[in-house]
Amino acid sequence: MGKKFDVLTKIENSPNNLIKGLQAIQASEGYVSDEAIEAVGEYFNISPVEVEGVLTFYSQFKRVKPGKYKIAVCDGTACHIKGSPLIQEWVKNELKVNVGETTADGLFSLESVACLGCCSLAPVMSINGRVYGKLDRKAPQKS
Ligand code: FES
Repeated sequence: MGKKFDVLTKIENSPNNLIKGLQAIQASEGYVSDEAIEAVGEYFNISPVEVEGVLTFYSQFKRVKPGKYKIAVCDGTACHIKGSPLIQEWVKNELKVNVGETTADGLFSLESVACLGCCSLAPVMSINGRVYGKLDRKAPQKS
C-alpha cells in the first residue's frame, strides 16, 4: 500500500471496517479510484471484486475523480417544478458531460442532487458548495 492511502492505517484493519476505509479514502481523495480499491482490498484482506461490489451498492461513493469545480444542479421537487431539468440540460450541453462525469480537462464535474436546502431560491445549483439561485438559461447581460 502506497503512502497515498495512509489514511487507512488510522482504521483497524478488520473487514467490518471496509465502509469506514472507503469513506476515509473518499474524504481524502474525493473519489475511490481503481488504485484505491486495490489498496483497500489489500489492507482489509478482501478481494478487489468484493470491494467493487460494496462500492456499487452504496451510492455515496464516487468512482470518477471530481473536477476542480464541482457543479451540483438541484432536482428536488421545488427546483424541478421551476425548471431544473432545463438548467441541467443546459449545463450538460455547455460542458459536454453527463451527470456523474467530469470534463476531459478535469475542470468541471456535474452532479444532480435532491435538495440543496434553499427551495425558496429555486431553481438552484451549487459550485464548490456556493449556492446560486433563481437560475434561468439566459446568459448574463453585459452592461
Ligand atoms: S428542491 Fe432545490 S433547493 Fe430544495
